[in-house]
Amino acid sequence: MRRRLGIAVVLGSGLAVLAGVGLAAVDTSEFVGAGRCLQCHPTAHKAWQGSPHARAHLALSGKQVADPRCTQCHGTAERDLAGVQCESCHGPGRYYAQRHVMKDAVLSRIVGLRDVTEEACRGCHTDAAPTVRAFDHARLWRAIEHGREPRPEPAPAPAKGAL
Ligand code: HEC
Ligand code: HEC
Ligand code: HEC
Ligand code: HEC
Repeated sequence: MRRRLGIAVVLGSGLAVLAGVGLAAVDTSEFVGAGRCLQCHPTAHKAWQGSPHARAHLALSGKQVADPRCTQCHGTAERDLAGVQCESCHGPGRYYAQRHVMKDAVLSRIVGLRDVTEEACRGCHTDAAPTVRAFDHARLWRAIEHGREPRPEPAPAPAKGAL
């Protein structure tokens, strides 16, 4: 019985982490920065670096760079992380950005990894954003598309008659 309780407590705190997904509610020390993700996701990092999100802080001038009213969408974690970084969308990585955790889809989500839905984009891409074009998720995703590291190609089958 006591053991069951222990498990319930562990699951409970996992849910508390999940419930605290609003960035404002998250302890900023839980963010590790895009440089850490780069170690294992070089292809995604390259795509991100070429995207407007990596430069979102450059749209801000002087005082605006430190103004939470701007950095809530143009920065990450309201601390010294420039631009809209990986963790703005995928969630703070302190507990999931380790190989053994990342390989476990359930565990990594319990400790902070988020599935990034269109809803999450719309949290920043609101009607107030300065754009003449309405938010079109499919079009905008194509512009920032990235994913897992490509798997190595399987060795080609030997050509017929080669044996
Ligand atoms: C030490 C290596 C390592 C680091 C650091 C790391 N990852 Fe991962 N990540 C992996 C591995 C391994 C997988 C398993 C999937 C695969 O084969 O690509 C993975 C999977 C993922 C997935 C898909 C998970 C799923 O279950 O759908 C996302 C999203 C992701 N990583 C984002 C990040 C982000 C964001 C960071 C930085 C905060 C990060 N990773 C840091 C190794 C790492
Ligand atoms: C609710 C989220 C949000 C907030 C808050 C916000 N922005 Fe933005 N901003 C955006 C988005 C999203 C875009 C990109 C719109 C697009 O091109 O689709 C953008 C674009 C911009 C651009 C144009 C960027 C470019 O390269 O063309 C400027 C300049 C800008 N914002 C300045 C600011 C300033 C200054 C503040 C604070 C006073 C601020 N924003 C607050 C979401 C936000
Ligand atoms: C603007 C939001 C956003 C940013 C910034 C972002 N991503 Fe993603 N990422 C997504 C979305 C959306 C998907 C596709 C849906 C999903 O898998 O959750 C995705 C998919 C991925 C995947 C594949 C997930 C899978 O299950 O196959 C990995 C790995 C990943 N991102 C890593 C990164 C890394 C590393 C960075 C930073 C260098 C980054 N992302 C920055 C939104 C973002
Ligand atoms: C944390 C806030 C934030 C989130 C979440 C976010 N964005 Fe952005 N996005 C921005 C800001 C800010 C800019 C403007 C960057 C600049 O030009 O200075 C931007 C710009 C863009 C642009 C380039 C502008 C354009 O209209 O072509 C694309 C594409 C884009 N975002 C796609 C996405 C997609 C797709 C998602 C969800 C997977 C997403 N964004 C989630 C803040 C965000």
